[in-house]
Amino acid sequence: MSLNPLKYVMGWLDERYRLEDLREFARSKSVPMHHTIWYYLGGITLFLFLIQVVTGILLLMYYRPTEAAAYESVQYIISEVPFGWLVRSIHSWSASFLIATAIIHMFSVFFKKTYRKPREFTWITGLVMLGLFMFFGFTGYLLPWNQLSFFATKVGTELVGILPVVGDTFMRMIRGGEHVTGGTLTRMFGFHVAILPALTTILVTIHLLMVQRQGMSEPLTGRPRRAMPFFPNFVLRDIMVWVIVLGLLGTLSLYFPWELGLKADPFGPAPQGIEPEWYFLFMFQVLRVMPAEFLSIDGRVLVFMGFGLLGVAWTLVPWLDRGAARGRPSRVINWAGLVLLVVVIILTIWAKFYHH
Ligand code: HEM
Repeated sequence: MSLNPLKYVMGWLDERYRLEDLREFARSKSVPMHHTIWYYLGGITLFLFLIQVVTGILLLMYYRPTEAAAYESVQYIISEVPFGWLVRSIHSWSASFLIATAIIHMFSVFFKKTYRKPREFTWITGLVMLGLFMFFGFTGYLLPWNQLSFFATKVGTELVGILPVVGDTFMRMIRGGEHVTGGTLTRMFGFHVAILPALTTILVTIHLLMVQRQGMSEPLTGRPRRAMPFFPNFVLRDIMVWVIVLGLLGTLSLYFPWELGLKADPFGPAPQGIEPEWYFLFMFQVLRVMPAEFLSIDGRVLVFMGFGLLGVAWTLVPWLDRGAARGRPSRVINWAGLVLLVVVIILTIWAKFYHH
């Protein structure tokens, strides 16, 4: 009698860990058939997060987080390490993609009113994750220790410093002292490879557990007639989209490899055209056009207060839009969200292309 090794191992595991339960779960899980491209965005964001983890670990093998060695170690990665340039480019492109897909995912959740009861906390964990991913981008920006990243970090952290009451403490906490130095680099590195990965992994897990526990939302217009098995139908579709995204990332990295620029010179003059990553540009633009003083209050403080209030309102949307749970979402809130989206896009384009 021949022994099937796979069957034997599965039987051995089944006896101990009751795999049958998992098989039953995979057989019975389904998703509503009403989904469109918007339903793949959360999954794409998740895939990009996994890409960040894998490429980040590979970069970590060669990167050195000190003022003297950081720039040279990145130079070594892109010129000497086999496929190092590709890994670095994919890591950088994928970071931008991740934030873009998370933002589109958030607005699709907003316009579909998926945040309505009982998914309020899924909305909140999503928002916190988006904030953490933006901070991921901010901390990663400095790591190559080039001119642009050095001066952009100087300006960015300076802005934190003008926050009322807590500003100075926060700025010192992020900088690791009074100024942007090698100490700041080491601190950013700590955030980037230890604190933020731990926090985001916990939040992604909670977000997904909530989605799993509550199932995918039904459309506002009523129950869909059919459902699709999650496994393998939906998973295969997910994977198909992921392969396309990976192809896009590879193509961009090949034709537009991420630049390294010149090594930072903390005592040199600030180069022309310092700007943060595209996802901070809308705030940057508001700060640029705001008068220095308004009603005898520092203009930048007013901008921060404005964004703070906006952030609180955006977080509370599931509670502000109480009709959504009864199938009658607020039109005012819907329009406000649309106006917000259009204004953010206009500010970003303005900052990127028309402000000199
Ligand atoms: C930043 C990383 C994020 C990841 C990895 C992620 C991942 C996911 C995944 C895989 C799903 C299930 C599939 C889908 O509906 O697309 C989902 C659903 C959901 N996400 Fe996210 N998400 C992220 C950010 C956000 C943000 C910024 C928000 C909103 C503020 C949000 C709110 C939601 C909600 C409410 C659902 C439930 C949708 C439904 O039931 O139809 N997520 N997310």
